[in-house]
Amino acid sequence: MISLTSISNLHSNELMKRGIAMNITIIGAGYVGLVTGACFAELGMNVLCMDVDKQKVKKLEKGIIPIYEPGLDELIQKNTPDRLIFTTNLNEAVQFSDVIFIAVNTPTLENNISDLSHVFKAAEEIALCMKGYKVIVNKSTVPVFTGQRVKAIIKGILQEQGKDIPFDVVSNPEFLQEGSAVNNFLQPDRIVIGFESIHALDVMRNIYSSQILRGVPLVATNIETSEMIKYASNAFLATKISFINEISNLCEGCGADVSVVAYAMGLDDRIGAKFLKSGPGYGGSCLPKDTKALLGIGKNIGYSPRLIKSVIEVNTAQKKLACKKIKNAVKRLKKRTITLLGLSFKPETDDIRESPAIDIIKYLVNSKAMVKVFDPKASENMKKLYSEFQIEYCSDPYSACDKSDCIVLVTEWKDFMELDFRRLKQIVRTPVFIDLRNVYEPDHIKKSGFQYEGIGRR
Ligand code: NAD
Ligand code: UGA
Repeated sequence: MISLTSISNLHSNELMKRGIAMNITIIGAGYVGLVTGACFAELGMNVLCMDVDKQKVKKLEKGIIPIYEPGLDELIQKNTPDRLIFTTNLNEAVQFSDVIFIAVNTPTLENNISDLSHVFKAAEEIALCMKGYKVIVNKSTVPVFTGQRVKAIIKGILQEQGKDIPFDVVSNPEFLQEGSAVNNFLQPDRIVIGFESIHALDVMRNIYSSQILRGVPLVATNIETSEMIKYASNAFLATKISFINEISNLCEGCGADVSVVAYAMGLDDRIGAKFLKSGPGYGGSCLPKDTKALLGIGKNIGYSPRLIKSVIEVNTAQKKLACKKIKNAVKRLKKRTITLLGLSFKPETDDIRESPAIDIIKYLVNSKAMVKVFDPKASENMKKLYSEFQIEYCSDPYSACDKSDCIVLVTEWKDFMELDFRRLKQIVRTPVFIDLRNVYEPDHIKKSGFQYEGIGRR
């Protein structure tokens, strides 16, 4: 095996020419940092992932993966420690490689302003440790002009320290979806690179050479355009969801079936079938945060994006609609037992950030209902992040439905696709089924003796 540190001072292009695997540093070992690190290692690069969270790094060093993401565990086990290592030591991380990806969290604050403190902190620390040329790559989702601000921070610190070290800043937004992140990363729809120096673009081309050779389109543009592509993409996805949710509310009022409407719409290539599933509103760590951040970006430049504002409003209302449906179905919530199937914001992830389940649980608990829940992977995160919730965590869907007055399917996990309604009918107190993902055929459930409520159909 090549010693990871002995080659760290060689220039990336030089390494590629000599056929030596490149070194890559990733700052932030969260959903994006870990997937990026594991996939680059899988593609043959030497990767060091650095995180400030000591517990997380300790776990990773022991082979314990802190998140559930299909395929990630195997990739990390396979590549650690030969091509993938973890550290909390920033100086070690900076010296390890001349390409440093920043993949830290960028939450949106109450006033729609993106909290860039983690990105700027990472930039400052990189500058303080720099001894030679670096390409600093922003993989975090960041508002337009952040690349320039990162550049100014690094330049300022280097000047203060009297160091004359060249560096480049690049924007390389990430488009992976949780639940299919590994596949999305290895086979992306496109690679976007915002750059100022041709040399930095060459370095990035080398890093993504295997995907580019397989025909993945590369969009090379300026940093500001690259930063905007990320927000525009997420906002468009959010718009499709809010659009179909709006249509679904219209369908509900006039006896139409939104699933059929969406199917027929999606057959038109110009519209496309994806992201037209109505439900309890979009959640997750990004669509809610990035649509709000776009309002903040607009405010900074004196423009109010009206469409995005409506998209957010429709989504907020949609989350409330789920609560209203439960209330209407059971009439009185106090002391009624309500079962939630699914806690994560979507299937195949343990991520509960902005999950519709959180709003529903808050509403039910405030209404003095008794809440029983089951999720195949996300219960631990809910227990940890919402320890104040007085709810019962169950070990399988049927124990969660025992003596229930209303079953609510919140997340469309595979585990909930083939529920045995005969068995459910025998164990529930009141046979009411609210299908927030339109997974089941209404007539089939009604025939099993249940009252059925879907979204945008009867
Ligand atoms: P995350 O919260 O899961 O992980 C961020 C990690 O960065 C944490 O482990 C945190 O401890 C670490 N960190 C924070 N400051 C640090 C510092 N100064 N030095 C080292 N480590 C630091 O976040 P995430 O979901 O991976 O998202 C990261 C970025 O990628 C965000 O900007 C997000 O919008 C974007 N993004 C996320 C996804 C997704 O599906 N989660 C997809 C595309 C883009
Ligand atoms: C989203 C984008 O899809 C990714 O391309 C992007 O990289 C990522 O955000 C990011 O920037 O973090 P993700 O949050 O993992 O990915 O999840 P999505 O699959 O987009 O789902 C988001 C929410 O929308 C979920 O709550 C899901 O249930 C909901 N949704 C999705 C619908 O209600 N209807 C749909 O048709 C699709």
